[in-house]
Amino acid sequence: MPYTEIDCLRCRNDFPSLAGTLDGRPIAFLDGPAGTQVPQSVIDAISGYYRTANANTHGEFATSRESDRLLHEAREAAAAFVGAASWRDVSFGQNMTALTFSLSHALARDMRPGDEIVITQLDHEANRGPWLLLQERGIRVREVAMRRDGTLDPDDFARQVTERTRLVAVGAASNALGTVNDLQLARRLSAGVGAWLLVDAVHYAAHFPVDVLELDADFLLCSAYKFYGPHVGILYARPGILERLTLDRLRTQEEETPYRFEMGTLNHAALAGVKAAVDYIASWGRGESLRERIVSAMHDIAAYEHGVGAHYCELLAEIPGVTIWGPDFRSAQRAPTVSITFDDFYPTEVARRLGDQGIQVWDGHFYGLRPIEVLGLADRGGVLRTGVCMYNTREEIERLVAELARLCR
Ligand SMILES: Cc1ncc(COP(=O)(O)O)c(C=O)c1O
Repeated sequence: MPYTEIDCLRCRNDFPSLAGTLDGRPIAFLDGPAGTQVPQSVIDAISGYYRTANANTHGEFATSRESDRLLHEAREAAAAFVGAASWRDVSFGQNMTALTFSLSHALARDMRPGDEIVITQLDHEANRGPWLLLQERGIRVREVAMRRDGTLDPDDFARQVTERTRLVAVGAASNALGTVNDLQLARRLSAGVGAWLLVDAVHYAAHFPVDVLELDADFLLCSAYKFYGPHVGILYARPGILERLTLDRLRTQEEETPYRFEMGTLNHAALAGVKAAVDYIASWGRGESLRERIVSAMHDIAAYEHGVGAHYCELLAEIPGVTIWGPDFRSAQRAPTVSITFDDFYPTEVARRLGDQGIQVWDGHFYGLRPIEVLGLADRGGVLRTGVCMYNTREEIERLVAELARLCR
């Protein structure tokens, strides 16, 4: 069953913050790529944790046992969300960036000077900086080129992966341009030389179902605050890999995966919220298992978001002085995140004017700095980015376009 505009209007009732107004006008939350709003069930799960389960883990008393139970449930939900075979394959952390830095320290211990890591020009800095830092240790970092249309150059990808490559670190979708990358190519090339494949699915997981087994990823990272949950990072690691790595850890820390990758006490309340966020998405799907419901909901919501994103681009094309960046919407494999620039205005100026009207969109590079640099937009204030998610309506998009048209007239 498709997810329709009526479903979108229904879902909006579940998100209390969407009722917010500015000077009497409804706020249009088109800022989702930097973090979505959360439904009441997520808020309840987080506050409920503090009411009934607030304790540290592994104690011999009721609230600690309840904490253990909730954390375990969160792990099972996150495993179902990424398509992992077991909860044991999922570790939690502060956010994707912190998890990636921990992983880069650990993987570097397994590498030698002269070994190579492949990153891309399209990626968020969180999937570039931790790897670029390893150059200090004599590891060579090679960068796959991005083309003007916002896609990665497959020939260059093949050139950058060599016999010395130990890791290919690539995004599934770009938070700056909405591009969805060819991960089969990344897997083929990395497997061909025996290198690990690490996928940054932070932007992708907000819009498409993730399947770590189909991707055959060694590592995959995402962040729950992009998919209606709280600020928690999620790491999937192929079974057996974390056991082999030398990690930054205390001798008192649990030896077993997935705990061995986690540092100190986690944000338990937020983890209760992660489970609620996954359950919320699944509540829009069909099927026997949680996984089936997640996948069917994500498919349906993706088709809706794609339609709204494509509608936005069609309307934008009629406004003189606006340039749309990134791939077009002909392929369904296109995230509903649209970045534009103006002949006569800096993105900041436009974002501020829209913000004053209660239309929330981002301007700049959003840490997706490299693609913005490659397009020559870094010293022109970057781009104006609009994100569409399950609670955004066509009406909101049309209101945004009307404001942009007024500005550009
Ligand atoms: C594509 C992408 N990767 C990585 C990150 C970093 O995620 P986190 O904020 O969880 O560190 C973001 C955040 O915007 C992102 O959009």
